Parts: sequence; structure tokens; C-alpha cells
Amino acid sequence: MADEFSGYLKDNMVPDKYRINSPIVQRHYLCDGEIKEWNGPQQDVLSPICEASGDTVRQKLIGTYPLLTEVQALEALDAAGRAYDHGRGPWPTMSVKERIRHVAAFAFRMKEQREEVVKLLMWEIGKTLPDAEKEFDRTVDYIRDTIDALKDLDRLSSRFVIEQGVIGQIRRAPLGVALCMGPYNYPLNETFTTLIPALIMGNTVIFKPPRLGVLLHQPLLDAFCDSFPQGVINIVYGRGQIVISPIMASGKIDVLAFIGSSHAADILKKQHPKPHRLRCVLGLEAKNAAIILKDADMDTAVEECLSGSLSFNGQRCTAIKILFIHKQIADAFITRFCDAVGKLKRGMPWDEGVRITPLPEPDKTKYLTELIDDARTKGAHIVNENGGDAKYTFMYPAVVYPVGPGMRLYTEEQFGPVIPIVPFTDIEEPMNYVIQSDYGQQVSLFGSNAELVSDLIDPLVNQVCRVNINSQCQRGPDIFPFTGRKDSAEGTLSVSDALRVFSIRTLVAAKETEANRRIITTIVSKRSSRFLSTDFIL
Ligand code: G3H
Repeated sequence: MADEFSGYLKDNMVPDKYRINSPIVQRHYLCDGEIKEWNGPQQDVLSPICEASGDTVRQKLIGTYPLLTEVQALEALDAAGRAYDHGRGPWPTMSVKERIRHVAAFAFRMKEQREEVVKLLMWEIGKTLPDAEKEFDRTVDYIRDTIDALKDLDRLSSRFVIEQGVIGQIRRAPLGVALCMGPYNYPLNETFTTLIPALIMGNTVIFKPPRLGVLLHQPLLDAFCDSFPQGVINIVYGRGQIVISPIMASGKIDVLAFIGSSHAADILKKQHPKPHRLRCVLGLEAKNAAIILKDADMDTAVEECLSGSLSFNGQRCTAIKILFIHKQIADAFITRFCDAVGKLKRGMPWDEGVRITPLPEPDKTKYLTELIDDARTKGAHIVNENGGDAKYTFMYPAVVYPVGPGMRLYTEEQFGPVIPIVPFTDIEEPMNYVIQSDYGQQVSLFGSNAELVSDLIDPLVNQVCRVNINSQCQRGPDIFPFTGRKDSAEGTLSVSDALRVFSIRTLVAAKETEANRRIITTIVSKRSSRFLSTDFIL
């Protein structure tokens, strides 16, 4: 396989439908309800997909986007602040029903752009066609589910509570201006899983696309602009240090939603002058372990660990990033696992049945090779054929064994197609690993003895936030809580949790006197308040 594979595009390898004939020059951004043109410097967008150009092979230039400055960033911040207007703007005071109407209108328009967004997901981050389609469809479903969840939440709040002589109505109110930033591996989905709940709860939003996965947001600019009132959603492009730092340093951000590294999250939080006023929802690193007990069903363990560690080349925060295998079954497991890895097809994102695609992060294959070399100098080996074979932006998955403490692969989040395997005899070894780890997102546990499994569940649920039994780690279904302990997360995201994260419980209360009863009844019957209301969304 290694011999035939070139690692770059050759003539006519791109189906017509997915071609980018000339670079997409994006000069527009959305600020204050207007799509503005930018005539300043642009950032080149290099695809992870390489092509031959003369004698050299290089990453294909697929477009450019605006490198805005602090001036445009602060304009966006002002626009979001004006639209919020200290909670008095039309958006934060709008009825829930009306806000839902705007978000539904956006989702309708968004669906029209599926083909273009999917194409750009393939070109910008190398996601396979089925995974890119799944990311798009899952995002549209997430919006629909968010709308349904908000209707439920609103219905529960459409009543008064009378307790100890006090009448109250409790609802969730927005927090203010939200800054939303997603990661490159799910540039659409994970950005929208914060952006949409933030908007629908009545916050105004500034959104910055991730460093990789920028152009795919362009087809949605018009839909954003047309679907929301002026200043409610603003999109800034450029380098984080230039455009995000001044926004954070202004102290005018009320909620930071960030999915990326804890290093970047810490910098952003510190830039805010009033940290106690800043709410944060953060999705950060993870090093999820799979623990394979000696009585595990081998077929299931191989299948789940394969897809858990190598879907999207291992570039998922939920990926299984280290495998602990009981010594008694290590040889049998490794033989079958490597055999399964050997069947994975390398190729371009649109190639049928492809599983291994080019990596978008700069110098990623070099970094992964360093991790492998470090393990090799400390006694581990690549145990699969062609493992670690790097061609331009491709790396063939490397199964590395036996990995142990002291090797970088033991603790570092590789976020790529390298699978470290650690042998164990005593269950305390993987348990200690999970306890000592800086991360605490999920664990996968493979075994068939209910008693043994249950002995491990109870301590593990206090170390991580999801224990998967005979199943790979994953975020979905999206109604499940998605979070982590230690350096892996702050706050919880799920369809319904996200609505809570971007809002705060607020109530209107009055002593139960005749006069107060009359006032409340009048307000409700005349429907003069949107908060104090018994309207029920059907
Ligand atoms: O990158 C982290 C994602 O939240 C993972 O989501 O488990 O659905 O791939 P997923």
C-alpha cells in the first residue's frame, strides 16, 4: 500500500462536484447587521491536501480571508453591546417564541448551503465526505433539538409559584455579550453548539471561526445577516492575539465559550479584567483511555478501539488516545488490531471508503513522528505494517507498543493517528493512570464480567465524566451531558445544559397582597410583559 500511495493530488483526481477551480477570496465579514467589505491584508488558506506544482509538491491554496485589526474587532464588540443594550435591546427582551422564529429561519437558510459547506469541510480540514455530511446534518439537528428543548424549558416557566405568602415567576434570562470560538476539528458543529444556545437565550454574540476551518462559514454569512436583528451576531476574522485579546481586555464579554487548548483558554480568561464576572464554558484537552480486561470480547474491543482512536485520524477531543491491554490477551489483541488498521484506506476526503486523510495542522506529521521516535528510543516499537509512514500531510496510523511512563505518548494528547498501547497485569495500573492524569473526560472499559465491570465503574465515574462500557468514547447523543473534570472542561454542554450555561435564573416576586395580585393579573391579562407572562408555547 505504501508504495502505490503518492500522498498528493494528481490530475483529474477531484470529482467535478468538489473542485475549487480558483481560490475563494473572502473579503466580507458581518458586523452590526451589515456585511462589510474588507480591503486590508488577507490570510492565505492552505488546504491539507497537497498538489504537485512543477517539481514540488505543496499544500493547495484554496482561498484567503480577512485579517481584521483591533479596530474592526472593537466595532464588533460595540455592535454586540449596543444590540444587548444592558438587557434592554430588542433581542434580549424579545419573547422566546419570537427568538425561536429567528433561529428557525436561520436553520432553514443554512440547510440551503449544505453542499458548499460540506465541500469546504473536506478541503479545509480534510474531513471525509461522510463525516463532513454528518457534521453538517448533526448541526442542523442540534438547532432543531435546541428549539424543542427551549420550548420545554419555557413551558415549565409559564406558571407562577406561590410559597410562604410570596408569588413568584422564575425564568431564565440572558447574560449579555457572548464570545464563541470553536475548534478546527469540528469547526461548524462545535462552534454552533455554543453559538446557537447563546443566541436563542437572548445573548448577543461575537463569533470567531477557528484558525483552520474558516472559509466554510462564508456561505452562511447572508443567512446570519438576514435572520437576526442588527448587531445580534457579529463575525470577526483574523489572528486571535490581534482581534480577540482587545475584546477580552475590554471587560465587556459576559460569557466566553471556547473549545480548544487549556493553554489558550487560560490566556483568554486572564485577559478579562473582571474574571469573577466572566462565565466560561470550555471544552479542552483529553487523553481518554481504553481499558481492555482479559475477558473482553475481542471483536467488540478491536472494532470500538479502532473507530474510537482513528475516526477523523484521531483528531477528536473524545478520541481514545491510549489503550491499556491486559498482558494475557495483548498479543492476540495487537495482532487483530493491527490487521484492522491495515485495512484502513488512505486517500482524499471524497474518495469512497477512505478513512485516513491529510492532517490540517501545520507540521503535524513532524510532531507525531517526534512522539513516535521518543517512544522508540525508550523501548517501544511500531507494531503495524507501514505504521508512521508520513507522506506530505498524510500519516499512516502507527500502533506503538509497549508504551509506558516516561514516554511522551503516555501523557501527551497526540490528537492524531498514533495509538499507544500499554500492557498491564494489575488493574491498579490503568486506574492509577486515570487518577494521575491531568485530564478527566471519558474512559472506555471493555470486559464481559458484570461484577468486574461494576467494581470499576464506581471509582471511574469519580475520575471522568463518562464511562463507556464496551463502547468507544464519544460526545453524542447530543442530549447527553458533555463535560470533563480537571483540565478537560469547564461547564457542561448538552442540548438542554447549553441553554442553562448561557442564561441565569431570574425571578419576579411579590408579597401576596390584594394590590400585588391585581397588578400581576393586569400585566398578565394585558400581556404587557414578556417575562411576567403565562403564555404557553405550543
Ligand atoms: O472533538 C471533540 C468532539 O466533541 C467529539 O465529538 O465524539 O461526537 O466526535 P464526537
